[in-house]
Amino acid sequence: MRVLNLLLPILLIIGIVSCSSNVYYCNSNDPNNYCKDVIITQKEIGNWNQGNRGGAEYTQWEVTLENKLDFSLTQFYILRDYTLKIRDRKSIWNVQEIESTNNLILPTYQNSIGSKSNWIFGFILQDSEPANLTLEAISF
Ligand SMILES: *[C@@H]1O[C@H](CO)[C@@H](O)[C@H](O)[C@H]1NC(C)=O
Repeated sequence: MRVLNLLLPILLIIGIVSCSSNVYYCNSNDPNNYCKDVIITQKEIGNWNQGNRGGAEYTQWEVTLENKLDFSLTQFYILRDYTLKIRDRKSIWNVQEIESTNNLILPTYQNSIGSKSNWIFGFILQDSEPANLTLEAISF
């Protein structure tokens, strides 16, 4: 009985750890590179010069992340760089920024992206160029 008392919590912990999803780092040299079936596209929604900001030019972008895999994604890690010049803190939606790693990830209110489904997010950037977004890793 004593052994069982000791063993049960250990088995429970092993179970929890093996259930948690793994992170796959995109690797174009890997023949099974899952990231090639996760497509990110940016579409221009509008471009304007904003009078109350000294006529500065802004562009709104809609980003679609398409999961063409046969299974759900529980997370994505998009690497962003200096080209993601967001107008202000309120000018990005449906995606979460992780400053410490320069990643954009799925917001906490969304658990997954189903197989053959899309996740759409957006932002308003300075100037007229799209941001350089690179898929770095996924979880499933
Ligand atoms: C975009 O970002 C990737 C990853 O950081 C980098 O390898 C690539 O050179 C960048 N492209 C441009 C045009 O800056």
